[in-house]
Amino acid sequence: MEQIVLRIARYVCTALSAKDLDTGLHSWRVAESAAMLARAMGMSHTEARHLEIAALLHDVGKLGISNALLKKSGALTEAEYGIMKKHTSIGAELVTNVLRDDGLGRTVFRGVLYHHERYDGMGYPHGLKGSEIPLEARIVAVADAVDAMGWERVYHGKRTVDFVKAELRRCGGMHFDPDIAALAIRLLDNGRIDCPKEGEGKNAAEILSVHGLTNRPIHTPVTAGHAVGDGGLPSAARSQQRTADPDR
Ligand SMILES: [Fe+2]
Repeated sequence: MEQIVLRIARYVCTALSAKDLDTGLHSWRVAESAAMLARAMGMSHTEARHLEIAALLHDVGKLGISNALLKKSGALTEAEYGIMKKHTSIGAELVTNVLRDDGLGRTVFRGVLYHHERYDGMGYPHGLKGSEIPLEARIVAVADAVDAMGWERVYHGKRTVDFVKAELRRCGGMHFDPDIAALAIRLLDNGRIDCPKEGEGKNAAEILSVHGLTNRPIHTPVTAGHAVGDGGLPSAARSQQRTADPDR
């Protein structure tokens, strides 16, 4: 069953890539990092696999968000940001309708619905705080942010590993579970999770080829040149959501 769900999750992720390649490729990479974090935390092979599936699907709700919004290079308005935030609940509804209420289903549900909750309670959709946030979602949140910060996005340019580590350190206890953020820094230091420097690491073609998807068109992201820390946020939200927010 688990293998079937993993296969389906990969196909869903491929569909997401077809809609918005940046989001799809981001999900593949977040899945790898989340599984690595889980293993480093001593989780079992099964638990790590469940987390990998949850991370693959964490942004599946973006299938319900328009490309005009997903690919917008300028700052989002308050209204647009409100729509963007709905991807967590849209995704949760999708996976609830498909997966069983078992260990795998619950892990995926938690990873999808709660991956934008913040450790300080300033996240969404429910403003959960600290250990109220399911562990699975706290792990996906860190993996999500590492990738979002480390790779070029439509609303910011590429950032260095040192920048990502500094943000993890600064945001530990605010945006992230501090223990998981510290673990991510150690895994970045020893190369067990990926935040490549210019010209290194996996790119779109490599990731797709791993899953037999080499014939898909490779999209070159447009850079908008936002200032570091801006993240394309609407101004009112900017004070609360910082650089580490994966979805602005
Ligand atoms: Fe997200």
